[in-house]
Amino acid sequence: MTPGPQSKPPWQYRVNKEKDMEKSLIVAVADNLAIGKNNALLWHLKGDLQYFKKQTLGCPVIMGYMTFLSLGRPLPGRRNIVISIFPWPDAPQGIDIVESLEEAYKVAGSACAPAVPHGPGKCFVIGGGYTYREAMEFSDSMYITHVHTSVEDADTFFPEIDDELWEKASVSETQTDDKSGLTYEFAVYRRK
Ligand SMILES: NC(=O)c1ccc[n+]([C@@H]2O[C@H](COP(=O)([O-])OP(=O)(O)OC[C@H]3O[C@@H](n4cnc5c(N)ncnc54)[C@H](OP(=O)(O)O)[C@@H]3O)[C@@H](O)[C@H]2O)c1
Repeated sequence: MTPGPQSKPPWQYRVNKEKDMEKSLIVAVADNLAIGKNNALLWHLKGDLQYFKKQTLGCPVIMGYMTFLSLGRPLPGRRNIVISIFPWPDAPQGIDIVESLEEAYKVAGSACAPAVPHGPGKCFVIGGGYTYREAMEFSDSMYITHVHTSVEDADTFFPEIDDELWEKASVSETQTDDKSGLTYEFAVYRRK
């Protein structure tokens, strides 16, 4: 039997144009805005990884080349769009390579499934610092995990959040990571 449309994973539906798509970014940020060092994350927070998966599953994810290298493989259950201006002849299977953020949003818009029936689809920029700095201007919402630590020797930072432009729409209760003892909250910001 030929598989019907219901058998397609959600990120393969072509139901949304880019204009209907909510552009989001998702990041975990230290109190001093640090997000990475030596092309790796600064912490391993199981609860945050679960939250990231829950928010992004089924949605296109857009990332810079360095973040793709740090992940090492495409994230399953999501269309993976990687920005790089250099030719990449031995590119791994399962990713779309684009040359600009603008092009990334176009690819995402053609692959974006609505989170609720007839609702807008969503895509997420998932890093890193270089890509967040560019994407912040175009984002409708930001999913920010505030991790209560300061990493002074980090080499990658998130931009300042301008409260003239952004309002905190929601914030979770404080979570505590069992292993590291780090505390954190999940906040959602919306453009004013
Ligand atoms: N805390 C978090 O939530 C989080 C999330 C993700 C990543 N990170 C961390 O962030 C760090 C990596 O960030 P990063 O700033 O070094 O790199 P990045 O943003 O992941 O990638 C930068 C590269 O992506 C390509 N690129 C991105 N936007 C582009 C554009 N508009 N036009 C052309 N090329 C573009 C360029 O690659 P080419 O030079 O190949 O063109 C650029 O050098 C790592 O430490 C990682 O662990 C943290």
